[in-house]
Amino acid sequence: MEAAVGAAKAAQEMVARSQKLEALGRLTGGIAHDFNNLLQTMSTGLQLALRLSQDRRGTSALEACQRAVLRATQLTRQLLSLGRRQAGHEAVLDVEKELEDLGPLLRGAAGSAIELVFDVIQPLGTVKVDPVHLELALLNLVMNARDATSGQGRIVIEAAIHDKQEALPRGLAVGSYLALTVADEGEGMTAEQAARAFEPFFTTKEVGKGTGLGLAQVYAFATQAGGTVSLASEPSRGTRMTIWLPQSTQHADVAPTEAGSQSSTPAERCSGKVLLVEDDDLVREVTAQALTAHGFSVITAPTADAALEMLQADAEVDVVLSDIVMPGTRSGVDLARTLAVLRPALPVILASGHPVRIEEAPDVVFVPKPYDVDRVARKLASAMDAARAGADSEFATLDGLTRSAGNAR
Ligand SMILES: Nc1ncnc2c1ncn2[C@@H]1O[C@H](COP(=O)(O)OP(=O)(O)OP(=O)(O)O)[C@@H](O)[C@H]1O
Ligand SMILES: [Mg+2]
Repeated sequence: MEAAVGAAKAAQEMVARSQKLEALGRLTGGIAHDFNNLLQTMSTGLQLALRLSQDRRGTSALEACQRAVLRATQLTRQLLSLGRRQAGHEAVLDVEKELEDLGPLLRGAAGSAIELVFDVIQPLGTVKVDPVHLELALLNLVMNARDATSGQGRIVIEAAIHDKQEALPRGLAVGSYLALTVADEGEGMTAEQAARAFEPFFTTKEVGKGTGLGLAQVYAFATQAGGTVSLASEPSRGTRMTIWLPQSTQHADVAPTEAGSQSSTPAERCSGKVLLVEDDDLVREVTAQALTAHGFSVITAPTADAALEMLQADAEVDVVLSDIVMPGTRSGVDLARTLAVLRPALPVILASGHPVRIEEAPDVVFVPKPYDVDRVARKLASAMDAARAGADSEFATLDGLTRSAGNAR
């Protein structure tokens, strides 16, 4: 009886917490979107300036700015992830492989003076989550553990499957879960700190050292995936933070190979005509400049409507790079869908600062804003190559068909 009341209370608390996060997420979502456009202008402008800069001191100053933009990007992602449903960017991940891939990143975050150990009980199976947010959540936990051990000692990352109900935290539905624990032997938390740890903006760190968003992100990520987070901590003994994620019954998705992303197409060799659709004047201006510096010829449109008009007036274009959320009657997704009918051979790449659903336009490549303009340039080049190759192979099969039809006669 007591246990049932406790479980109901825990479930209620979980709902209240999610609702608070969702309200905050809506509030910050709009701000984060504007920030993404500002960051996009800065990162592209810096990249362009770096390409043009001859002076070594200038270069190192620009690189410092780039690191600041990267940090701001991470913070913005953190804000955007609060209370949002991330449907559309989920993937079925092979957990063992994912942990192996994340090893270097997490070791880097822990710092060289800390021993980072993996304690994995195989097999771990698969989970269905947004890989970007899983990475961010583990990074947040490892950075907290690093801060708690003041940069020295040992951090253990444990991974195991649990399906016995007694082993699961209260409030979780019966089932099989992946438990990812980050354990440290650092300063630990008092009961009051532990009770507030997941609150957005709760931090005990100095100004500039912490924003108090890390654990809010971890919590939002885990609950949106159908799991939760549990914590055990004792002052001066250490902390164990565990992310619980429901096991998936699906096979892992095969990671999409980004054609051309490995081969370093020299930026100078890019050619072809890009239609850049972007409503933010600054982003449009600087991106057009950067793409031109890569060798593309670029024409621009401020809305999807204007872009369609240009294309219907027979603008010669090899590839379209479009924002998603824009004023006018059409979004970037609508534009991609219309073009799939009007100009099926024309490749479209969509970019957005919003975590959007793009199932409606499954054939397009999606890049989150702010994007790295060099990488986008490579994506544009390989999309053009693929479109050309596709056109060639279409001719080839048509040719084959006519020939076999001829033979049959
Ligand atoms: N491993 C840990 N050991 C001790 N205290 C912790 C640990 N993890 C979190 N805390 C406490 O919880 C607070 C909130 O953590 P959270 O990650 O949300 O924010 P932050 O680390 O302060 O800032 P941010 O992650 O945004 O840079 C921390 O300030 C700290 O007091
Ligand atoms: Mg933190």
